[in-house]
Amino acid sequence: MTDPDWVSLDQLFTEVLHSEDDVLRAAREAGVAAGMPAIEVSPQHAALLSLWVRVAQARRVLEIGTLAGYSTIALARAVGADGSIVSLEFEPSHAEVARANLIRAGVAERVEVIVGAALDTLPTLTDRAPFDLVFIDADKENNVAYVEWAIRLGKPGTVIIVDNIARSGRVLDPRPEDLQARAVRDMLTMMGEHPRLDTAAIQTVGTKGWDGFAVAVMH
Ligand code: SAH
Ligand code: DHB
Ligand code: MG
Repeated sequence: MTDPDWVSLDQLFTEVLHSEDDVLRAAREAGVAAGMPAIEVSPQHAALLSLWVRVAQARRVLEIGTLAGYSTIALARAVGADGSIVSLEFEPSHAEVARANLIRAGVAERVEVIVGAALDTLPTLTDRAPFDLVFIDADKENNVAYVEWAIRLGKPGTVIIVDNIARSGRVLDPRPEDLQARAVRDMLTMMGEHPRLDTAAIQTVGTKGWDGFAVAVMH
């Protein structure tokens, strides 16, 4: 199959499964309108994130990389009214758009968006730990450190999900200058060697091209 078939089939899934409601669509469009890159998770990936939260019965969720809050809304809906999300974002303008989207989604009271470089803000979260689920989706260069922080802020049973593990195959044989792909590969190696993680790496195709998730559980 060629890429356009992946896209059309993904769009069919989203249509027949009603995966993207008006609130999620508005959040996505607000990001584009604000000039932000359209690199949020796809509707199917957002739906899968929600399902993972619910299967894990996660109540406390940590997200690294908010953008316009598209994935944040999916996570916040899934934790329910007594759950909470901490979402870390470097760009103040992204956080501002995300906060407006979270208010429109009716989940703002269960989400705290913290602005700053995640490596600076993660150490402030020890009193909010343990988190039940961590979604890592920020600057890929820091992925090894983010997984280490997820473990530090987790507990046995914590689910760790990392976006963008395939990058159209660039992770297979990264060019020397492709620091993002190299970092993803280093992270997968680290996860495979880590004594406290059981990890699967799942490739996906769809509206976001060829990419995928790593999903791990802590023990
Ligand atoms: N999870 C979002 C997409 C996140 S895109 C969704 O699916 O809807 C990646 C985000 O990470 C961008 O908004 C970018 O500004 C942010 N980011 C980049 N470097 C960061 C850092 N060092 N700390 C925190 N956030 C960072
Ligand atoms: C990029 C980042 C992402 O988190 C993503 O899902 C897709 C693309 C990027 O930086 O290009
Ligand atoms: Mg991503």
